Amino acid sequence: MSAEILVELRRCCPPTTFLTTPELIAPYLVDERALFHGRALAVALPETTAAVSELMRFCYTREIPMVPQGGNTGYCGGATPDASGVAMIIALSRLNRIREIDPSSFTLTAEAGLTLADVQQAAARHQLLFPLSMGSEASCQIGGNLSTNAGGLAVLRYGMARDLVLGLEVVLPNGEIWDGLTALRKDNTGYDIKQLFLGAEGTLGVITAAVLKLYPASTQRETAWLAAVDLSAACALLGLARRLLNDCVTSFEYLSLAALELVLTQVPETRCPFAQVYAHHVLLEVSVSGESSDLRRGLLKLFEVAEREQLVLDAVLTETLAQRADLWRLREKIPAAERAAGGSIKHDVSVAIAGVAELVDRASRAVLAEFPAVRFSLYGHLGDGNLHFNILAPATVDALAFRARNAERISMLVHTQAAELNGSFSAEHGVGQLKRDLLAATKSPVALMLMRQIKQTLDPKGLMNPGKVL
Ligand code: MLT
Ligand code: ZN
Repeated sequence: MSAEILVELRRCCPPTTFLTTPELIAPYLVDERALFHGRALAVALPETTAAVSELMRFCYTREIPMVPQGGNTGYCGGATPDASGVAMIIALSRLNRIREIDPSSFTLTAEAGLTLADVQQAAARHQLLFPLSMGSEASCQIGGNLSTNAGGLAVLRYGMARDLVLGLEVVLPNGEIWDGLTALRKDNTGYDIKQLFLGAEGTLGVITAAVLKLYPASTQRETAWLAAVDLSAACALLGLARRLLNDCVTSFEYLSLAALELVLTQVPETRCPFAQVYAHHVLLEVSVSGESSDLRRGLLKLFEVAEREQLVLDAVLTETLAQRADLWRLREKIPAAERAAGGSIKHDVSVAIAGVAELVDRASRAVLAEFPAVRFSLYGHLGDGNLHFNILAPATVDALAFRARNAERISMLVHTQAAELNGSFSAEHGVGQLKRDLLAATKSPVALMLMRQIKQTLDPKGLMNPGKVL
């Protein structure tokens, strides 16, 4: 970084810390999966919204590109700078205060750099629930969750990140602060501006704080593991569970046998819930707040009806918190197990729930027709119609070389099938730099035009997170 800019930066933005030495900035230059390696002018660590604003005003005036970064846990390279070395990384980790909790309104105002787990725990201290939940919650940050409209493990019941936001505070590219920190649930006064920044992956401005929706903490929860007859039966089971259990299904996660076996072989101290081998597994969780319901009885009824209707082959219900943790570990450790097995070609496709079985059938056939020896690791949020249709290299070949040679073609085959069923190529992981070309190739011309016009209006100099999304 040129010494003069640094001197000027420190003069104009005195409260902000800047990292410039290669060792200190190195972790900010690579994404979680090490798919992208970038360079940067410096990493700024502002501690207040005013400091973010000063910094961005400085960058805007000098036309310095800005790359916002939260916990850096994304899968699409959305927070990694390009190779030019001219961008300023704005890391939000020190902007990490709970500004307010209002139990009577069921709201919490959080700054962007709080980890998701911090937000959950702050709510829990008031017997309230912030329901966004995912494997990376100890390190991902709420600002990143909102900027990428994260999904996770309870979307079925509570929605995606954008559904959990009432208000936002955003610093615009020129440093202006938009204070949209309203806690109103009803406000029908024109365009809903916050929606532009939710899921924009930092391409329109920097989210610095949010008013989040809270829910009563669950007072009863039951967790079950079921073996479904096939994928269609698993989907039918979801409908049955929602109807029989008064729509209190919180999570409905699918694991193929192959994904489960990866965990059992790669992750220590894991155990299959069943003695018998089954091809299709579901982790089902139901929860309620209040005292009136008997969830356990409801679940036993579900097992009985589902068996009678030949949807499930086996089922277990947890008795202790430790058993519950063991089941969730099987699901949450799949990505780590894939990594331990040499990595996978990841997909994050979604279709209407009624189309999931057809998608898997079609995409598996399309991939196997060209790559007969690949191994599948299918799992995901079946309750949301969202599958991680991941593919591992044949056991006999070098995984890295196989992915380098074939990932693009394999992803094309999977995404084509999802598109033919009116699905999405990115249900919850976003676009970043990894899927930017796909966005350009698949969105309608009108949608692309609208997106570009919004970008042009909010970021006329094209300084915000260049090379991402659009
Ligand atoms: C998950 O559902 O576990 C993640 O979204 C996918 C992944 O980590 O690969
Ligand atoms: Zn997922």
